[in-house]
Amino acid sequence: ARKEREKLYKILRMAADFFYRQLHHSSAGKVARDYLRKRALPDEVVEAERLGYAGPEWDGLLSHLKSLEMDPEAGVAAGLLGRSSKDPSRLYDRFRNRLIFPIVDDQERVVGFGGRTLSTDVEGEPKYLNSPETAVYHKGRMLYQISKARQACRQVRQVVLVEGYMDLLAFHAQGFYRVVATLGTALTPQQVRILGRLADEVILAYDGDEAGERAMMRALPLFLQEEVSVSCIRFPNGMDPDDFLKKEGLGGFEALVRGRKDLGSYTIHKTLDIWDGSTAGKTRIVSELQPLFAAVRQPIIRSEYLRLVADRLSLSEEVIQRQWMHSARNMV
Ligand code: UTP
Ligand code: MN
Ligand code: MN
Ligand code: MN
Ligand code: MN
Repeated sequence: ARKEREKLYKILRMAADFFYRQLHHSSAGKVARDYLRKRALPDEVVEAERLGYAGPEWDGLLSHLKSLEMDPEAGVAAGLLGRSSKDPSRLYDRFRNRLIFPIVDDQERVVGFGGRTLSTDVEGEPKYLNSPETAVYHKGRMLYQISKARQACRQVRQVVLVEGYMDLLAFHAQGFYRVVATLGTALTPQQVRILGRLADEVILAYDGDEAGERAMMRALPLFLQEEVSVSCIRFPNGMDPDDFLKKEGLGGFEALVRGRKDLGSYTIHKTLDIWDGSTAGKTRIVSELQPLFAAVRQPIIRSEYLRLVADRLSLSEEVIQRQWMHSARNMV
């Protein structure tokens, strides 16, 4: 199995080199070079991350691998090639007409790719395509740019978590490396554990839209369960970190960080904000907050959160706890 994995690392490395050359040294790559300029990603970042380009053909990488006498089946196992459902002997390039972001593990091995479409017709295909799970790529146990962040977090034990590839590279463009991103999936307990070892505090910097806020609040129980300190910042006007850094720079970001909120308190306040003042509303909110409290392990944090709720709803902490026990009894 180890030998199989070595084979995948090798073919992934070759694919990364191929995409890199397509970006820099092919005429088809011009569309991607223009795109990078439009997105204002500095050459140094493009080079340091060895970004690449997958051309529009269905067999660009496939032909390349064949010309190197590589086994195409290894390309399938590495998540680079797909298999035609009509004719299983036919293989094709999974990444086409996309800007390519290599994903590298702690040992600097290429393990997978993210690809942003450069097509203007957004119908049909996803904006980002990610490598599937393979023997060497487990999205739920990896974070984008973990290797650089690990080095940068040695001095300051605080790490920023963002949603996207472009968000992350916008930080690198500003010389800020204490940042990682998830890889197109929801945050997992394993990733939270990695973050907890990396730093003493995680700062969520998700997109400033509704989806970003929901994703942030969904992440809270994981941090509570793993006992990892987590705070959050919100970007104005639906901006994501990339938009915001382009407009306000690292200075603007640092100002937001100084005003960061504990994610638990933030979530509780947001939930309390929708209280309509009624008794039924009180009951609803107390029951809505139950899962959050069930995830809290540390007594001090629990007590602080409970006080927030009790004060705002003019209830005693004891009554809130009794309400939860009451609903638990009614459930069995
Ligand atoms: P966004 O839709 O916010 O994209 O998705 P973005 O990162 O701001 O990208 P740009 O600025 O339009 O280029 C955030 C992240 O969610 C994942 C990707 O990891 C993306 O970076 N995603 C998004 C997918 O995996 N697939 C998709 O189709 C869309
Ligand atoms: Mn897996
Ligand atoms: Mn988004
Ligand atoms: Mn975004
Ligand atoms: Mn964006």
